[in-house]
Amino acid sequence: MAAKNLSLSSLFSLLFLLSLHTPTSQLRRNYSFPPRNATAVRIPTSLLLHQISHYSTATATVPGGGEWMLLQQSIGVSAMHMQLLYDNKVIIFDRTDFGLSNLTLPPGECRGNDEAVPVDCSAHSLLYDVATNTFRPLIVQTDVWCSSGAVNADGTLVQTGGYHAGDHKIRLFMPCTYGQCDWIELKQNLTVQRWYASDQILPDGRIIIVGGRRAFSYEFFPKNEFIGVNATVRFPFLKETTDPKEENNLYPFLHLLPDGNLFVFANRRSVLLDYNNNRIVREFPPIPGEKRSYPATGSSAMLPLKLTPAGGNDSASVDVMVCGGAWGGSYLKAMRGVFNLAAKSCGRIRVTDPDPKWEMEDMPMGRVMADMLLLPSGDVIILNGASRGSAGWECASDPVLNPVMYRPDEPDSTRRFTMLNPTTIPRLYHSAATLLPDGSVLVGGSNPHVRYNFTGVQYPTELSLEAFAPPYLGAAYSHLRPSILSIQGPADGVVSYGQEFAISFGLGLFQDVTRCIVTLAAPSFTTHSFAMNQRLLVLYIENVQQLSSFDYKVTVHAPPNANVAPPGYYMLFVVHQGVPCHSVWLRIS
Ligand SMILES: *[C@@H]1O[C@H](CO)[C@@H](O)[C@H](O)[C@H]1NC(C)=O
Ligand SMILES: *[C@@H]1O[C@H](CO)[C@@H](O)[C@H](O)[C@H]1NC(C)=O
Ligand SMILES: *[C@@H]1O[C@H](CO)[C@@H](O)[C@H](O)[C@H]1NC(C)=O
Ligand SMILES: *[C@@H]1O[C@H](CO)[C@@H](O)[C@H](O)[C@H]1NC(C)=O
Ligand SMILES: *[C@@H]1O[C@H](CO)[C@@H](O)[C@H](O)[C@H]1NC(C)=O
Ligand SMILES: *[C@@H]1O[C@H](CO)[C@@H](O)[C@H](O)[C@H]1NC(C)=O
Ligand SMILES: *[C@@H]1O[C@H](CO)[C@@H](O)[C@H](O)[C@H]1NC(C)=O
Repeated sequence: MAAKNLSLSSLFSLLFLLSLHTPTSQLRRNYSFPPRNATAVRIPTSLLLHQISHYSTATATVPGGGEWMLLQQSIGVSAMHMQLLYDNKVIIFDRTDFGLSNLTLPPGECRGNDEAVPVDCSAHSLLYDVATNTFRPLIVQTDVWCSSGAVNADGTLVQTGGYHAGDHKIRLFMPCTYGQCDWIELKQNLTVQRWYASDQILPDGRIIIVGGRRAFSYEFFPKNEFIGVNATVRFPFLKETTDPKEENNLYPFLHLLPDGNLFVFANRRSVLLDYNNNRIVREFPPIPGEKRSYPATGSSAMLPLKLTPAGGNDSASVDVMVCGGAWGGSYLKAMRGVFNLAAKSCGRIRVTDPDPKWEMEDMPMGRVMADMLLLPSGDVIILNGASRGSAGWECASDPVLNPVMYRPDEPDSTRRFTMLNPTTIPRLYHSAATLLPDGSVLVGGSNPHVRYNFTGVQYPTELSLEAFAPPYLGAAYSHLRPSILSIQGPADGVVSYGQEFAISFGLGLFQDVTRCIVTLAAPSFTTHSFAMNQRLLVLYIENVQQLSSFDYKVTVHAPPNANVAPPGYYMLFVVHQGVPCHSVWLRIS
């Protein structure tokens, strides 16, 4: 342990910790971290965390805790798709073919509509600034309805497909510090229509686009550089998992495993795909119970990967979890106004086992169209959705307002699920959620109607944005919350595979730093209850040193290779006794 003298930097930490308890907007806007090497990290200057005192009191609180905050009554667009970018802005979009949204484009920026109106001067996409809680309209040229996406190694959103004139499109969105960056639509097309496909960034930086309606194939972006001219690869598994008249295999769940193969789940089946050789490496047993893919929409996450020292065995154990869904036929029944109870069960499978089996567990309630997000603490939050029906227009009822938390490492299986405080806003079909850099969850959307409809319907189109603060952001835990002060090692904010680097962080007096973990969270492209590309890596800790009363330094190993962590931007969290700091962005290359 280093000397415990009260240094100037400790005072800084103390002031910072005190500032966390001072909810004045003055402090919030003006406070900036004192990074010792500003070139190495991107540190946001304004934090949602500080606004927690403004969170509304829930109507019916439960012991599990958590708080909801209404960020915006209306952003003018229903948040069907969401992607957080490394500049702490969230790109949000809906579809273009239903008429006018409630957000006007800048003067003169109209476009021809795909269907509903000849000229459309409303926005169907926007950029939400997390730090300032403001937003501006974006101009998307063609229909992005039910599309997919992934952020590439440079931090650019690559968005693929949609409907109508947009169904073969590839669009880019590059974050920009200044100016008015907007969507760029490429001339190059996808090889086939991709509507309800899923995307995943691969270790070599390419993005794989899998499936879609009547698209029993996958392809890559960029294409042609790595494989032949016709970049479409047939994938019969998707045809086999399509139910007649109902599908139940759209938006397949994709998880890139640390062995480099792609886990693909559709309907009730799952396989491990060697996408480079178009070979099914293995097939897993079907999940018991209900169907899990759109429109019997469940959700899925690969549980946190716990990394060993560089060169260790990182594929030793990997668990995939699938939760919720609906019985086959639920969609067809819902079309006739009969809403089946949604699946209560989750399945968890150790995909690295030689003879894996689904271990089934029950959520506190049934759920269809739930979002599953990995929290920086390593827990899973399940939120949004309904307890009856399926995905699809007018196809669900009985919204589930309480999120639940799942603790994968809790040995007592009866204690893994905890119910959290409810929101007041139903989030049904076409809603979304994503993790934010302060550890809260951004929640928006819900439009179970063909067009925007605010009157005479049970579940009106939702244009609001909320944030959910998981229990760890509660005031009762603020004394446990670390704060990152600087990062040492990465040159120009870029860390290399296997590199050892150090994070200095502040923490209140008398804390037990042996109970710290350091995690990296990849931001997800979320739509239709699936958070594409999300992964949480628990880094290997070499050691933790105490530098002074309030200052610590933790030395960690960066992920060993690109199978474990595809290149790109990750949120780096120091988590102390389950309480995460506000993250900083780290680029892995
Ligand atoms: C904080 O910012 C406000 C405006 O954003 C400015 O008027 C004020 O002087 C700043 N205060 C400090 C202490 O820098
Ligand atoms: C959206 O715009 C319509 C038409 O102007 C209006 O009736 C409705 O109240 C607006 N909805 C919201 C949530 O702002
Ligand atoms: C891409 O598709 C559009 C129609 O969706 C077509 O007009 C255009 O020519 C295609 N571009 C290329 C490069 O093939
Ligand atoms: C490329 O693959 C698609 C989908 O399998 C097929 O429809 C198309 O005919 C192929 N094109 C060529 C030039 O082989
Ligand atoms: C890593 O672990 C897996 C699963 O336990 C095992 O099959 C594999 O042989 C191990 N690899 C090494 C290099 O130890
Ligand atoms: C909203 O839905 C109701 C009930 O189906 C319908 O009567 C009404 O016309 C719809 N409004 C709009 C604007 O589509
Ligand atoms: C900042 O980091 C860079 C790259 O790691 C290093 O070369 C430089 O000396 C550091 N500067 C300070 C003030 O620590």
